[in-house]
Amino acid sequence: MRLDFVYGLLITAYLTACNSYTSEYIPIEKIGEHPNSTVFIGMQSCNQCHLDIVNAHKKTAHWLTSSKITSAMVIPFLNSDKNYFDLKDQTRLYFSIKNDTLFQEAYRRPYKSPFFTKSIDINIGSGTKIGNSFLSWEENSLFQLQGSYYKPNSKWINSPGYPSFFQPKRPIFPRCLECHTTFSQSENWQSAILTNRYNKENIVFGIDCQRCHGPVLDHVKHHRKNLIDSVGRKILSYKNFSQQQRIDMCALCHSGVGQNINQAAFSFTPGDVLKNYLSTQTSNEPDVHSNQVGLLEMSQCYIKSEGMDCMTCHDPHSNERNNLIKFNSRCIECHPSQQHNSLLPENTWDCVKCHMPMKASKIMKIEINSDSVSQVLVRTHKIAIYKE
Ligand code: HEC
Ligand code: HEC
Ligand code: HEC
Ligand code: HEC
Ligand code: HEC
Ligand code: HEC
Ligand code: HEC
Repeated sequence: MRLDFVYGLLITAYLTACNSYTSEYIPIEKIGEHPNSTVFIGMQSCNQCHLDIVNAHKKTAHWLTSSKITSAMVIPFLNSDKNYFDLKDQTRLYFSIKNDTLFQEAYRRPYKSPFFTKSIDINIGSGTKIGNSFLSWEENSLFQLQGSYYKPNSKWINSPGYPSFFQPKRPIFPRCLECHTTFSQSENWQSAILTNRYNKENIVFGIDCQRCHGPVLDHVKHHRKNLIDSVGRKILSYKNFSQQQRIDMCALCHSGVGQNINQAAFSFTPGDVLKNYLSTQTSNEPDVHSNQVGLLEMSQCYIKSEGMDCMTCHDPHSNERNNLIKFNSRCIECHPSQQHNSLLPENTWDCVKCHMPMKASKIMKIEINSDSVSQVLVRTHKIAIYKE
């Protein structure tokens, strides 16, 4: 009787400790190592106790933003209306799959045999909004290829920033991977001199838990040994972070590419002061593309309220694209009875539509055909009154 009671108590404590408990016990798999000796482990080792967060995270643009190419992944790209596009200098870039490998080949009339062939090894971009860019290895050097895949039209296009004539490849520097992977190690990782040579075996694809939460190995080991401990141990906690520390973690990748990089890529860890690593705000008019921090900080909502940060509106673990009911309810929490001039032409429930309108990016442009360039529309984070 007494024993049953203790047993029952233990089970309750166990279930509270692991709020999404699963019996799946997965061995800890090392998938990378930071030169500061932080060990990266596979995200499946969180399943046992955080299954809901892991499952939700797998659907986010963060998780899907980079990966090694597999043949299953590329089949949808090759269903596009045509697997090539033409450049202004009469070069045709053609995409095909051979023995499970995807290739980009360049042809000139009469398109008999390619004069340039490259394997496509890595995908960058979740494809949730714009599409995918592709990288290729040449021994240990990493390059971006000229062809990208544009999701809205299911088309192969010239990669943003490439000239409209044939250019074989462009080196990929660490800052690109810093925003699109959890970790990668350049050969001269301590040096400020840029290189596109990497340790191929030490790249952690996708943005996973460890990018935002720091080292996790000791946390997992502790909780596996102490299943009834319901307080998160041996892990950084955002509850103890200041507003600036919470914003800096997102600002690492959401405040523009950065003008001055003071410390090598992948040296910033959660809790650090970002401005010691890079200077971000580069103009009075931050671009809507990848500079949500700069724009939010110009908004009266941010300036005049206490402790606003990205998590005021975003759940960092879920794909919430188009969940406008949720986003608008965030506005109403702080503006519960907003009075509008009665002459407003439409319903006023969609606050976001008028006060955070879509704006064209000045730096990110897409060349859909060789003679038409379209601007990419991004949701501005400068919350304000717009006249249009
Ligand atoms: C054996 C169980 C267990 C495993 C495995 C585990 N955790 Fe936890 N974790 C916990 C418990 C218990 C807490 C405290 C309750 C909570 O916040 O869910 C916690 C809390 C956390 C917190 C919040 C800390 C805070 O105070 O804000 C983070 C972040 C976290 N875990 C990340 C991870 C990551 C990432 C993994 C996988 C690499 C992982 N955990 C694996 C048990 C575990
Ligand atoms: C400062 C961080 C940063 C850097 C550096 C960066 N990106 Fe991005 N990238 C982003 C963010 C943030 C987005 C999401 C869209 C936005 O905010 O406009 C994005 C979007 C993308 C997308 C579109 C994904 C989609 O489907 O919506 C692709 C493709 C992409 N980046 C490729 C690259 C490549 C290739 C490089 C390097 C040559 C690079 N990016 C450099 C932050 C960055
Ligand atoms: C893009 C950054 C980011 C990624 C990736 C991320 N987290 Fe978080 N996580 C956060 C932030 C920020 C908070 C604090 C939320 C708050 O205080 O509002 C948080 C909070 C948590 C908490 C505390 C409880 C909660 O739900 O708020 C746990 C547990 C957690 N994360 C686990 C994980 C796990 C497991 C993964 C990987 C599957 C993961 N996180 C991936 C940013 C991230
Ligand atoms: C390591 C770089 C990095 C960090 C840190 C980061 N992000 Fe991102 N974020 C990205 C990139 C890259 C994309 C675009 C991914 C894509 O579509 O390929 C993105 C996309 C997003 C999106 C758009 C999601 C969608 O559905 O398209 C939101 C919202 C977002 N991030 C919020 C946050 C918040 C909030 C934080 C801080 C807790 C954060 N991010 C931290 C790199 C990062
Ligand atoms: C954390 C609370 C908070 C949230 C969330 C919030 N706001 Fe605000 N907002 C404020 C405060 C405080 C002000 C300044 C009011 C003042 O000056 O009296 C403000 C000002 C504004 C203004 C006037 C801006 C100007 O330049 O004059 C608009 C418009 C606005 N908010 C719309 C929104 C919308 C739309 C959302 C949701 C996307 C939102 N707010 C979310 C707190 C918030
Ligand atoms: C006041 C609410 C609010 C705050 C605070 C906020 N966002 Fe957003 N964010 C939104 C809304 C609304 C959208 C549009 C969502 C959609 O269309 O699905 C959005 C979209 C985004 C996108 C995708 C943009 C696009 O057009 O593809 C990114 C990236 C993003 N937010 C990052 C951030 C970051 C980083 C922060 C913190 C600096 C932040 N957000 C703070 C409301 C907010
Ligand atoms: C159809 C477009 C539209 C929609 C939808 C809309 N607003 Fe506005 N909002 C405006 C315009 C235009 C103004 C400036 C004129 C006025 O006050 O009527 C304004 C003004 C404001 C102000 C500043 C008032 C002041 O005193 O300075 C706030 C705060 C605000 N809106 C919040 C909201 C919130 C919260 C929602 C959603 C519940 C919302 N708005 C929906 C267009 C819109």
